[in-house]
Amino acid sequence: DKRLTIAIDGYSACGKSTLARSLAKRLGYSYIDTGAMYRAVTLYLQRKQVDIENPEAVAAAMRNLRISFQPADNHVLLNGENVEKEIRGLAVSQMVSPVAALSTVRRALVDQQRLMGADGGVILDGRDIGTVVFPDADLKLFVVADLDTRIDRRLNELLTAGREVRRDEVAANLEERDYIDSHRADSPLRQAEDAILLDNTNLNLEQLVEKGVELVENLR
Ligand code: C5P
Repeated sequence: DKRLTIAIDGYSACGKSTLARSLAKRLGYSYIDTGAMYRAVTLYLQRKQVDIENPEAVAAAMRNLRISFQPADNHVLLNGENVEKEIRGLAVSQMVSPVAALSTVRRALVDQQRLMGADGGVILDGRDIGTVVFPDADLKLFVVADLDTRIDRRLNELLTAGREVRRDEVAANLEERDYIDSHRADSPLRQAEDAILLDNTNLNLEQLVEKGVELVENLR
C-alpha cells in the first residue's frame, strides 16, 4: 500500500483536527497539527515580547526557536518544553492569526512541514495544506461547519479543559480568526480546487471518520 499524504483544511474549530487525529490512528499514519506550530511560535513571541511589526526581530526569533512534537501523544514542544496546554488558551488564540499572517513565520513553518511530511503516510491539518504546503497531496479534504456549531464545540472543549471563558469571547475569536486567515495576502485560507468538501455540522465523530476512511479506501 502506498503511504499517502492527506491534507485537511478548514476554518477554526470545524472538527478538522479531531478528524485528522482519528483518521491517522485508523490508518497508522502520523499526524501533524500545523495550527499548533503557529500557536507555539505565537507563545514564543509573546513571552519574548517581540514586536511583530519588526520583521528583523521576528526573523531573529524564528532562528532561536525550535518546534517539535512529542511522539507519544503529539504534544507540541517549544525548544523542548511541552506547551500543549498553554497554546490552547485565549491569550495565544487572540494573537495567533496576526502572527500566522507574517511571511517570515510561514516560510519557516512550511519548510519544516514539508520535511516532516516528505515520506508520506501522513495527515496534516491546517489552513494552507492543500493549497501551499502539499499542493500534490493524494487526498485533500476541506471541512466546514455552521458557525454556531463551531462556537459550541470550541466552548465545550475549553470548559471541559477547566478554562474560564465566555461564549461571546469564543465567538469573537473564531470570527476574527476566520476573517484574518481568509483575507491575508500570504497563503489565505481557501478550498483547493481539487479538495473534497465535508460538511461536519450534522455529523458525529464516528460518521466524520467513516467518511474520511471511505475516501481513503476509494483511492486504493
Ligand atoms: O488550527 P488552529 O485553529 O489551532 O490554528 C490556529 C491559527 O494558526 C489559525 O487561526 C491560523 O491563523 C494559523 N494557521 C495557519 N496555517 C495553518 C494552520 C494554522 O495560518 N496551516
